[in-house]
Order: sequence, then C-alpha cells, then structure tokens
Amino acid sequence: MKITIADNSGRLPKTDLLIAFTLADESPSLPTGVRFPAALHKQIKGEFRELKHTDAASGTKASVLSIGLGKKAELTDERARRVGALAVQRAQALGAAHALVWLDPKLESTLGSRAFGQALIEGALMGSYRFETYKNKKKADKLKELVLAGGGKEFKTGAKHGRTRAEANLFVRDLQNTPGNDMRPRELAEAAQKLATRSPRITCTVLERADMKKLGMGALLGVAQGSIEPPLLVHLVYRPEKSPARRGDKAAVTKIALVGKGLTFDTGGISIKPAGKMWDMKYDMSGGAAVLGVFHALSELDLPMEVHGVVPCSENMPDAAAIKPGDVVRAMNGTTIEVLNTDAEGRLILCDALCYVQKKVGPDVIIDLATLTGAVGVALGHEFAGVMGNDSKLRHDLQLAGESVGERLWPLPLEDFHKDQMRGEIADLKNISAEGLGAGSTTGGAFLWNFVGKTSWAHLDIAGTAWGSMNRDWVGGSLGSGFGTRLLLEFLERRAAL
Ligand code: BES
Ligand code: MN
Ligand code: ZN
Repeated sequence: MKITIADNSGRLPKTDLLIAFTLADESPSLPTGVRFPAALHKQIKGEFRELKHTDAASGTKASVLSIGLGKKAELTDERARRVGALAVQRAQALGAAHALVWLDPKLESTLGSRAFGQALIEGALMGSYRFETYKNKKKADKLKELVLAGGGKEFKTGAKHGRTRAEANLFVRDLQNTPGNDMRPRELAEAAQKLATRSPRITCTVLERADMKKLGMGALLGVAQGSIEPPLLVHLVYRPEKSPARRGDKAAVTKIALVGKGLTFDTGGISIKPAGKMWDMKYDMSGGAAVLGVFHALSELDLPMEVHGVVPCSENMPDAAAIKPGDVVRAMNGTTIEVLNTDAEGRLILCDALCYVQKKVGPDVIIDLATLTGAVGVALGHEFAGVMGNDSKLRHDLQLAGESVGERLWPLPLEDFHKDQMRGEIADLKNISAEGLGAGSTTGGAFLWNFVGKTSWAHLDIAGTAWGSMNRDWVGGSLGSGFGTRLLLEFLERRAAL
C-alpha cells in the first residue's frame, strides 16, 4: 500500500472509499455536493473515533466513511494520529483498493495544515504496521493506495515530515520484533552500518572486542563474556552539512550524544530469569534500536547540530565463562564495580558506553535510553517511560517533546543519597542496591549517574513503554512500539529551532 498526498481543492479524484471527518455536534465535513442518507446523517454525533459508513451517499459513487474527531477544543496531534490510523485500518477492513482521506479546509484550521498533514500520515503509516517476516502466509492487502488530500503546501510539508518520522518508527519496530537468533549484536551493528549508507552526513564506526580491551571497557566485556556472540559497540555520527561556525547559530555548536542499550537477549546470566516471560527479553535492545531510529530519520532532515549515537551491543547469557555474582569488573574510567546480580547488566554495558562518550565525544548533552528495569513497568505501566537526570530543564524539555508525539515521560526521583546507595563493599560501586530499599528504577539511574561527570544528562527507562502499550490505534499490543525515536527527533528539532 502506498500513501500519497494530494490537494483538497478542485475536483474530487475517483476513489472506492471517501473518508471524511466529523467534529462533535457538527455535520460531517464532506466535499461539496456529497451527502449521507438522511437517516444515517442523524446518527452521526462526531464523537472521537465514531465510525459511520454508507454505500448510498449522494453526490459520489464512492462509499463514504465518517470518522469522529471529538470536540473541537479537545483536538490534539495524538487524536489526529489516531484517526489517521483508523482511516487506513477501516479502508483495509472494508476491502477498498483505493481510499481517499478528504480534509475539509475549514477543519484544517483547527489544528493547522502542517500539524494535520504530519499527524495523519504518521497515524496511517504506523497504524498499518505489521510484522510478517516469519509468516509463510502473509495477510493479503487489497488496499493499493491511500490518498491524503489536504490544503496545499503546509499540509505537504507536514506530511513529508510525518513520513520521515513514521518510517523511522517502523524501522525501530522491525528491529525490536526480530527474534534474538536473528538480531544478535552483529545484526544490530549491521543495521547501524547500513544507516550510514543513506547519507554522506552519517558515519558509523563499530568497535570490536579487541578495541574494547584496549579502551578498558571491563564492564561491557564482563557482560559479554558468557556469550559466544562477540560484543560490538556502535558509534554513529551525524554532522550537519554546513560547519557550525559558518552557520553561526547557537544550536549548531551543540553536540548531542544519544546512548542506547543494545542487549540483544537478556537471560539474566548466572542470576538467571524465570522461564515464564523470558522470551520478551528480545526487546532488551529497544533503547539501542530507538537511537538507530533517530539516524534513520536524520538522513532525511537538515538538523544544525552534531548528533552522536552510541549503542553497546551484547547478549547476556549463562555459561561456564559467564560473569559470576560477586565478580568485580573495571569500567573504562577506572571505576571498579561489584556485580552482585548479573541480571542488572544493562547499567554495566551502558556505563562503559557513557565513559566512551565522555572521552571520545565530549558532548553538551547526553540522553540515554534503556529497557533497564522491570520496576519502571510496575511504577508507570506501559504508557509512561521514567525520566531521570541531573538537569531539570533537559528533563522538562524531553517531557514536553514526548507529550506532543504521544510518547510520554514521567519523572522519577534521583538524588545524591540514591547515588550513595550504589557504593560497593569491596569495590567502588555495586550494580544493585541493598535489598529492601526499593526504588528499583532510580537505582539504575543512580548507578549511571556516576559515569556522566558534569555533563547535562537524562536517562529514560523505557522497559515498560518499548512494547505492550495499550491500543492507541497507531501503536499498542504485544509487539514493539518503537518508543523513543519520535520523541528524540521532536526534542532535537525543537532545540534546532531555538
Ligand atoms: N532487561 C531487564 C529489564 C526489563 C524487565 C526490561 C522487564 C523489560 C521488561 C534488565 O536487564 C533487568 O533484568 N533488570 C533487573 C534489575 C535488577 C536485577 C536490579 C530487573 O528489573 O529485575
Ligand atoms: Mn537483566
Ligand atoms: Zn536487560
């Protein structure tokens, strides 16, 4: 199915299914001359997500579907994304080969042409996602083309933008959903290298075990030593076209580092996890995938700042060679760590990645994303990721960006005393806090805090939101959500506009 953008002025193109929207307590916003049969017209209330369909509209040969937008004052980008997803899903269910979403110019002004264009295409693309790589019998899709018809240039600009973002989201979901046997460190790193071929402004370096040894990444190497799959560390760089000095704007001198946990399968190691839901630990690379997703979009955007993406990739396996509870490892900055629980491995691979970022990149801002703790799902569920850090402005900016894209964050506490709780008995740090202290997600954040120096830093614990979110039409269910990529893109673009 392809999605194309068209104008809503002039003659209505031929289509099997005409989709229009209805605001609460208003008449359906149909093209001039098109009318619902009187009896059906009366039933249309325009409540959010209300669907009313007829094959007997006057003024057109197409069948016509009204989708409720809800109250005008309650119309948001998220609602527009949801109706965009509903539009494509209903068109598929109704068996149309060609469908046209017609946006009334009067309606467009409520959210703005650009925002509408962006949200509708995001919803339509993300809402039609399927993961069928492993199905012999793939679902047949009768829908060949979905046309989004809106007002002119702004709508088109928004749609172009939305497509870039949605495609990045889908790219991330594919990485997440791919099972651990086909998404090992090498495949994740390969995906990163492929991204670099999409733009001359993106480069990708991959560090191997020997490089890590030289750099002294004992924590990452410690996690990886129980697996026959060698660990890799991905370093993507996006450089703006014009040098910061030549552009002369402030945003351009910013260097932002995104760090993502790329644990391609987490058995827990010797501190092994129960069998029950161990399979979903294939999602433990979701933070890394989200970082890769940003670079997927960066090749199509023109952001003025330098962006670094660093993803430590490893498996966490139990094995004769595996790291044992109580073992001490030494991170790249010399810090020694008692590994009291081998299942708290995310922070171990991340701490070396953070050291690496400090030493090799020296960014102004670090944002890390990780499926770090089950506790974040207990506290916040699948709809909110936890955000922690040492810079309240950064945290707040991220939260606002998340609100606008429908990937929401909620702050969790992180204070000096939490950091103290991570002091080790025989080493500098331990990787878990004492039993009974609770605040499991904060503990993970507190551990990482030791490795960011004075750099402005935020940590997003996405263990709950990376998969299994509730059905919001464009996302939801047991599969990966692609959480984080669109949020980070929104954050970067807002910063670029400063
Ligand atoms: N990858 C897990 C966290 C996780 C749990 C992600 C559930 C998604 C769903 C992480 O490596 C882990 O095992 N964390 C431990 C930390 C504990 C040992 C301090 C946890 O949450 O139990
Ligand atoms: Mn673990
Ligand atoms: Zn993990």
